[in-house]
Amino acid sequence: MERRVRFFDTTLRDGEQTPGVHFSAAQKLDAARRLEKLGVDVIEAGFPASSESDFEAVASIGRELSVTVCALARANAEDVGIAARALKDARRPRIHVFIAASDVHLEKKLGMTREEALRAVRESVALAASTGMEVQFSAEDATRSDREYLVSVFDAAIKAGATVLNVPDTVGYAVPEEFFSLFEYLLKNVPGAESVTWSAHCHNDLGLAVANSLAAVRAGAGQVECTVNGIGERAGNAALEEIAMIISTRGERDGFSHGIVTENITAASRFFADLTGVHPSPNKAIVGQNAFSHASGIHQHGIIADRSTYQIIDPRSVGLDDSTITLGKLSGKHAFSARTKALGYDLGDEAIRATFSRFKEIAEKKDTMTDDDVRAIVSEYLDGLEGKFFLSSFQIQSGNKMKAMALITLRSDGGEVTEAAPGDGPVDASFNAINKIASPFTGGPVDLLSYGIAAVTEGTDALGEAKVKIRADGAIFTGRGVSTDIIKASIKAYLNAINKRIAANERTEAGS
Ligand code: KIV
Ligand code: ZN
Repeated sequence: MERRVRFFDTTLRDGEQTPGVHFSAAQKLDAARRLEKLGVDVIEAGFPASSESDFEAVASIGRELSVTVCALARANAEDVGIAARALKDARRPRIHVFIAASDVHLEKKLGMTREEALRAVRESVALAASTGMEVQFSAEDATRSDREYLVSVFDAAIKAGATVLNVPDTVGYAVPEEFFSLFEYLLKNVPGAESVTWSAHCHNDLGLAVANSLAAVRAGAGQVECTVNGIGERAGNAALEEIAMIISTRGERDGFSHGIVTENITAASRFFADLTGVHPSPNKAIVGQNAFSHASGIHQHGIIADRSTYQIIDPRSVGLDDSTITLGKLSGKHAFSARTKALGYDLGDEAIRATFSRFKEIAEKKDTMTDDDVRAIVSEYLDGLEGKFFLSSFQIQSGNKMKAMALITLRSDGGEVTEAAPGDGPVDASFNAINKIASPFTGGPVDLLSYGIAAVTEGTDALGEAKVKIRADGAIFTGRGVSTDIIKASIKAYLNAINKRIAANERTEAGS
């Protein structure tokens, strides 16, 4: 009989621990809708005690979605209380309580004895269970913990009301045989182990996160924790798309199945790559740009004769379309809308109207519009939906014998504002002019951490996509702008990041 493996997606919580990645509450809600369409069983939406923004994200995702929504909490009354409040209107809430179990974490990080940690497990899990919500418990750094102590920790968690027991390989130290044997040991020795769901949470420091997750499943785990594109702290977490496609491709052998809608994998991967600015390497399994391309003559010949010669996965099964319909300036709204759907977007009439008009504007200057162009246009639109300032116009003076000067006019509710500023080149001058206009609203100084521009497609008429990363008050905000004019793309990207900063600042000031 097939055993269905549950997918616990933590892209919005552990994935957000990727260096330089930050999601606003609105971004998390939008992303969660994608994850629900991807068919994940549980969405870990955030860590409500860590910030107002995460509290808001967990609350809104819990209210809006029908999938199980999980909130992380340290093993103390305050965190558990905050997580429960964030989940109070959720349709299927789960509180995820965690505490370290390894001696090194207990002694050096928490300054606690084993007994004190056990007490914290009992009290915090019991408190979480008293809300009537489902409770998951994680023993952080389990793979470097003493096995007998681990048994007492999980035993205490089950007795206090946890029904999902998670075994994290927090530092990516385990190897598959050892992780398999750890699960075997726990399932055999923890009292009541057969009546709860066991879960694996693997990090990829040794490149074994996916292999370890599957070893755990073979040993009896019913849930795997993972992120889209494998993003996460350091070398990341187990990649959702890899676990799903291994089960789809080889599950028959092992007798496993899953509920992931694999046709939505590519769209989800690109969505998160755009949102985070962290793009999978070209040779990354399943979602890398080269994952389904065949360069050598011998391979191409084989593929043409019969795909199965060199292809173990049908690209269509992960949502890659073989279609060669080319969009261009003569394409109609219907074709454009159909392409956005195929790329995984679910846009309403107003969004289609706005993005299609932008599409036409750019298509006038380009011969053909690729999927990457369409994706860039839609992402830019979605990013720019909310914002205090919008670009009205800009003028640049620059040359090799003069200091660059930018004159920027921004539009907001209060009308138009124009400022001029010099800079080291046209981009720097533009950013300086924007800072002059926006500084009263950013709640303090803003540092530019990175700026880059890349052609989305080839040719001199290529769409340029600019990306910026800024830091203000310790938080990081990313921005993106697209145009066939690289200065305009840069201005839009910077403005996009600044608008995010202003929105975050306004939320803090409003105390929401
Ligand atoms: O890696 C880890 O240990 C975690 C826990 C909070 C589950 O992310
Ligand atoms: Zn983790």
